[in-house]
Amino acid sequence: MKNWAAIKLMIVCIVLAVLLVACSQNDATPNDAGQDIDAEQITNGEEGTEDIDTEADEEPDPYPSIHGADEDLVSLFEAYEDYFDIGVAINNYQLTSKMDGEVILKHFNSLTAENHMKVDAMHPQEDLYRWDATDEMIEFAEANGLKVRGHTLIWHSQLPPWIFVDDDGNDVSREVLLDRMKTHIQTIVGRYKGRVDSWDVLNEIFEPSDRRADGLRNSKWLEIIGPEYIDYALIWAHEADPDAKLIINDYNTHEYGKRQKMYELVVDLLERDIPIHGVGHQMHINVMSPSIGSIEQSIKDFADIGVMNYITELDMSIYSGDSTKYTERPEGLIKLQGQRYKEVFDVFLKYSDHIESVTVWGLSDDKSWLRQHPVTRLNWPLLFDEARRTKPAYWTIIELANEQR
Ligand code: GLA
Repeated sequence: MKNWAAIKLMIVCIVLAVLLVACSQNDATPNDAGQDIDAEQITNGEEGTEDIDTEADEEPDPYPSIHGADEDLVSLFEAYEDYFDIGVAINNYQLTSKMDGEVILKHFNSLTAENHMKVDAMHPQEDLYRWDATDEMIEFAEANGLKVRGHTLIWHSQLPPWIFVDDDGNDVSREVLLDRMKTHIQTIVGRYKGRVDSWDVLNEIFEPSDRRADGLRNSKWLEIIGPEYIDYALIWAHEADPDAKLIINDYNTHEYGKRQKMYELVVDLLERDIPIHGVGHQMHINVMSPSIGSIEQSIKDFADIGVMNYITELDMSIYSGDSTKYTERPEGLIKLQGQRYKEVFDVFLKYSDHIESVTVWGLSDDKSWLRQHPVTRLNWPLLFDEARRTKPAYWTIIELANEQR
């Protein structure tokens, strides 16, 4: 009998030991390894790294969700006032909406119109300009001490139908288009002379896959006028407001091919004394790419030749491809996004003497164009959530600013 009791005790011990080993293996999730994980492999709940350590749950959340207008929150632009401006792209109704207005005023000291200063919105017909939205935005900015970035004078997209054609629908001549371009630029820049800090005079003029030696996009501007349209646009904008900073803005400047063509053009403009003061890096990035090194290189190249960098349209998609769609916010990715925002801002700080402003492309996740592009899906690319509450990315950026003190 005694033997039988001893055997039973042994069996219980073995079962317990097996259970213990199984539990300890579960604690090491593949994601703990760090870097080489695919964005779409990290989700919330069971597959993520959260919800495992119950002790951690008892710690106060380092990245709490707090309304953006809360008086205890540190203001983003104040945290970075020694380094560069912090801007936001808006639509006018947000400025006076209770939901957005206070959050904008608390955290940002520069405004960009998401759409209402584009050519189709401002100059829909040859003899018709629409000033209301821009007047309102600039008045709001002046009343509250914010700067304004003018976006954008010459672009190949969001154009009104009349711009390149005559009454019969045929392309206009080079002279006519030059004349239209001059009138367009000088009427708008002249109206806001002294009130717009910097103009994205030229937007997205490079397209290396169009295979031109100069890397320029095969746009209608180029086709009808030739590459000189770039010189003329800058010269005429400068004539209309000699104090405004003139910028050439583009996406994917982290890619060598595009950056190099942009660099060559800027060097050439400087050598010929064509007015150019800076380059705009749109910086629509995602949680996985591009590399921090390539972002740094894009800023460094232009810092080295003495032109200012403007980060003009920063956002960070949580997707690294077009085929995934989350229906709920994936908290693991949102934390990763926070870390990456911090890494990106760390580069900005390193080059802060050469960076004029950092603008995020939208106030809150629900307002982002990335909910429609490249496909319709939920996305969470910005610093504040749908309820204008802080996300981890807000906190990591503030954490980084605090670490500098
Ligand atoms: C480009 C333009 C912006 C805007 C975004 C999408 O980056 O420069 O004005 O249209 O695309 O919102």
